[in-house]
Amino acid sequence: MNILAVETSCDETSASVLDNDIVLSNIISSQISHNKFGGVVPELASREHLKNISAIVSKSLDSSSKQLKDIDVIAATCEPGLIGSLLIGMNFAKSLAFTLNVPFIPVNHIQAHLYSNFLNGQKPEFPFIGLIVSGGHTLLIHVEDFFRHKIIGYTLDDAAGEAFDKTAKLLGLGYPGGHHIDRLAKAGDRNYHKFPLTIVKESKYNFSFSGIKTSVLYYLRKINFENVKTDSLSSVSGGVSANSRLQEKFEKLTASGYKVYFPKSEYASDNAAMIGLTGYLKYIHTKDKSEFNLQSLNYLAKPRLDYDNF
Ligand code: KG4
Ligand code: ZN
Repeated sequence: MNILAVETSCDETSASVLDNDIVLSNIISSQISHNKFGGVVPELASREHLKNISAIVSKSLDSSSKQLKDIDVIAATCEPGLIGSLLIGMNFAKSLAFTLNVPFIPVNHIQAHLYSNFLNGQKPEFPFIGLIVSGGHTLLIHVEDFFRHKIIGYTLDDAAGEAFDKTAKLLGLGYPGGHHIDRLAKAGDRNYHKFPLTIVKESKYNFSFSGIKTSVLYYLRKINFENVKTDSLSSVSGGVSANSRLQEKFEKLTASGYKVYFPKSEYASDNAAMIGLTGYLKYIHTKDKSEFNLQSLNYLAKPRLDYDNF
């Protein structure tokens, strides 16, 4: 099955073509116009998506050596994200699906980060603990099976990547700054200054980064993996999963019998390949495929901005 996928939830315009779970192309265009503002400007993001989406989709088809007539289903991010940005990619993808008369699969961006470790033949075993650490989200999820998962922890304030980005801004490193801090930290002295760790009293699985903007990596200490006896597996994903120190910390867990998955860097930050994979998984695991028929009057996919539908 050939899947064409589109991602425009924030400041990356991305399109990908997959053959089942195998990525044939994954084109990502990161908008740089936000850099001078120190964060994503929603209206600018929508405009850039609108300008680029058509060319990015064509490029992803070209580099996959597939044509529109080869596409069996179309998937797009529909939630959560910046409303203007979501609307561009989602409606572009819907129109294409309508024209080609193929199913359209709405994808939840967070679920896509969660399943990004299933790309290209990789098959983490269920159940596992998923940690999503990105610019906009920090979630700890217990995953029993495909689309059977429960959020068990989340940040009470900033997202992990946001904490990195704000810190980078304070240090004059530009936006987004997570990878700059990562690079500079390698040459730094870990013990030079101890930043305070915020303990969230109400739940040991929740996170808080607002008071400790320069110590995002400490959150690992709050996760008591020993308590989750049945889950010897974990999957880490999202832009911040590219962080060296975070990977180092998780690698230590492998010594105590845990199997840990990290996505390749091109699938860690926002990308359409993970959207295509999640669309594919959704399609093969949904019995009533008419749910994905755009011609159907019952079709309800619309952008959402929260975790309600997770
Ligand atoms: O997943 P992503 O592309 O966007 C969201 O869905 O939010 O993640 C982007 C975030 C940014 O905050 C960026 O600073 C951070 O990931 N990031 C990193 C690293 N590479 C990207 N943070 C820490 N270390 C890195 N190596
Ligand atoms: Zn993301």
